[in-house]
Amino acid sequence: MSEKPTHDALDFDAIAKKALSDMPPETRFGEKDAEVIRKNADALLPLRDAFVKGFYDVLFAHEPTRAVFEEGERAEREKTLAQFYERVIRGPHDGAFFAWLAFVGPVHVVRGVTNPMMLAMLGYLVEFVRERSRALPDHEALVAAFTRLAATMGAIIAYGYEMAWKKALENVVGIPPALAERAAHEEATRLFPLRSHGRA
Ligand code: HEM
Repeated sequence: MSEKPTHDALDFDAIAKKALSDMPPETRFGEKDAEVIRKNADALLPLRDAFVKGFYDVLFAHEPTRAVFEEGERAEREKTLAQFYERVIRGPHDGAFFAWLAFVGPVHVVRGVTNPMMLAMLGYLVEFVRERSRALPDHEALVAAFTRLAATMGAIIAYGYEMAWKKALENVVGIPPALAERAAHEEATRLFPLRSHGRA
């Protein structure tokens, strides 16, 4: 990344912590998930290139996702995704890891990648591991670990996306985040009165 205009304006550590704290612990990536991934690292690391190739084959075969990329960009993107995969497998899965995930989300906002695109590819990650780890004794624990990892990343990415929007509203239009939240809540209550848990 050469430009970093929005990075200083968002607190990635706080975004990750808030997203994690909203998740019930059973659904969240935890230490035993990190352990089972690290324990199987020797089997998972050699799958890196297949993971990366499959990931971009899927994105380039679909017009809306292919349109995100510039001519000749694929090799560079494959390199960063390979690094991502290694980081996920090797860890450490600590606070810095989750703060980094909170940074990866908004990087995509800049390029017009939508949350549906991001969440879809988290599904690809889980399916990839499910298919490729069938022969391993820890298969089920690995699938559970990657399912929780995908849920956790999705939570952080979605929250980071929301924060990026709020920051943009604040910086560009001068609307403070608390006001944007209140307006969104009030407007949603007006538009969807029957869905506000009994409060008409
Ligand atoms: C599971 C979902 C995804 C993960 C984990 C992921 C991961 C990453 C990572 C680690 C980077 C490098 C960030 C940096 O350090 O600068 C990156 C950049 C990028 N990704 Fe993804 N990605 C995902 C989904 C997608 C999708 C769905 C698209 C497009 C449809 C996409 C397009 C890009 C582009 C264009 C960049 C370059 C951003 C820039 O201009 O620097 N990614 N991604």
